[in-house]
Amino acid sequence: MERTLSIVKPDGVKKDVIGEVLKRFEGAGLRIVALKMAQLTREEAEGFYAVHKERPFFSSLVDFMVSGPIVPMIIEGEGAIKKVRDLMGATNPADAEEGTIRKDFADSIEANVVHGSDASETAAFETSYFFSAFEKFEGR
Ligand code: CMP
Repeated sequence: MERTLSIVKPDGVKKDVIGEVLKRFEGAGLRIVALKMAQLTREEAEGFYAVHKERPFFSSLVDFMVSGPIVPMIIEGEGAIKKVRDLMGATNPADAEEGTIRKDFADSIEANVVHGSDASETAAFETSYFFSAFEKFEGR
């Protein structure tokens, strides 16, 4: 059993596809074990994306992530990290496969609707960044 963090980003919330994203995860046999809506501060967004702080797109990415509310969630299931990434599609929607969330809804590599942890270490950091122990529902 594996856990991963996913986020419906500000563009996904504005496009009213929160339910569609949840439906795709649940439809693939994954379970949502934590969920909320949140508005990040600049400092919180910078902390979340700290691994990218030297990248040229960092400040634009932070601007985008604080541009409106987001919906972070913890997803649980066998192979959840890869399953979520497969359902999302490639980071750049231009490269995303048919039927993926980003192919269907994303406008650009920055406004790409969803985030998903890319490995087990990042999943551990990211799930705890957004949710306390009391907000994670074990074995429900
Ligand atoms: P995400 O999976 O949330 O992780 C980092 C994010 O940076 C990525 O999705 C993209 O939305 C964003 N990003 C913006 N520009 C780029 C870029 N040129 N290359 C990669 N990621 C980018």
